[in-house]
Amino acid sequence: MDATVIMEDAIPFYRPSGNECVLFETAFRQGLPVMLKGPTGCGKTRFVSHMAARLGLSLNTVACHDDLTAADLTGRFLLKGGETQWVDGPLTHSVRQGGICYLDEVVEARKDVTVVLHPLTDDRRLLPLERTGELLEAPDNFMMVISYNPGYQNILKSLKPSTRQRFIGIDFDYPAAEQEVQIICKETGLDRMRCVPLVNLARSIRNLKDLDLEEGASTRLLVYCATLMMAGISPLEAAQATLIEPLSDEESAKEGLLEVVRATFE
Ligand SMILES: Nc1ncnc2c1ncn2[C@@H]1O[C@H](COP(=O)(O)OP(=O)(O)OP(=O)(O)O)[C@@H](O)[C@H]1O
Ligand SMILES: [Mg+2]
Repeated sequence: MDATVIMEDAIPFYRPSGNECVLFETAFRQGLPVMLKGPTGCGKTRFVSHMAARLGLSLNTVACHDDLTAADLTGRFLLKGGETQWVDGPLTHSVRQGGICYLDEVVEARKDVTVVLHPLTDDRRLLPLERTGELLEAPDNFMMVISYNPGYQNILKSLKPSTRQRFIGIDFDYPAAEQEVQIICKETGLDRMRCVPLVNLARSIRNLKDLDLEEGASTRLLVYCATLMMAGISPLEAAQATLIEPLSDEESAKEGLLEVVRATFE
C-alpha cells in the first residue's frame, strides 16, 4: 500500500464545523494555549486527537477529577528500592518531551492546579518545579489544551478570569445536520438513508425545552444508536437504549422522549 494512504488512516476522523482546525494549528504555531468548551459528546476529544495526529504531536491526556492536585500533574518524589526518586507527572513529561498536554474537564481539578498552569500558559511558557528546583522552559512543540463543559458548571467550579484569559477559546456545539449525518455514516457504516432520520430525531430532542433535560442527545449517542442498528437492533429499541435512557431517569421525561422517538420510527 502507498505510504501516504497509511498516514491518512492514522489520523482519527474529524469532520470540522468551521475554522477550528486552522485556528488550532495557528495557535500551536504561535505558541498559544487553547481552551475548548462545549456539551458532552460533541467532538472535543476527537478534535484534539485529530489535530495531534495531523501536526505529528504526541498527546498526553489527563482526565481531571476533584482530587487532582498540582503534584499529580508535575510529579513527586517516590520511594524506589530504598531510594527516593523524582518521577515526572504527565504535565512535566509533556513539557520535557514536547507535544500536547490535554487536561479534560479541567474545572474539576483542585484550585492549586492553576498555579502551575499560569506561568506555562502566558508568554513565559515556564514550568517551575519547586520540589526539584528546576525551571523548565516549554519547547516550541509543546501545547497546552484544556476542555470543559460550561453546561454543568457551578460558580465554585468555574475557572478564574486570570486562568481563562490565558487561553484562546473555541466554542463547540453539536454539528450542523448535514455534517452530523456524515459523521454518523462514517463512524458506523450505517447508510445515509437511515442516518438522516436519526439526526432529525436528535435535533427534535435538542429542541425539547419543556422536558427539563440536563443536556440534549449528543453526537456520541447518535453514534451508539447507529452502531446498535448496524448490529441488527431495531431502530425503536436502539433509540430507547441510546436516546432515552441515558438522557433521563424521570418517567414523565422518558415518556415525552418516547413520543418523539415513536413519531420517527413508527
Ligand atoms: N466532528 C466530528 N467528527 C467526527 N466524529 C465526531 C465529531 N463529533 C462527534 N463525533 C463522534 O462523537 C463521539 C464523541 O465525541 P468526543 O468524545 O470527542 O466528545 P467530547 O466533546 O469530548 O465529549 P465529553 O465532553 O463528554 O468528553 C466521537 O467518538 C465520534 O464518534
Ligand atoms: Mg471528551
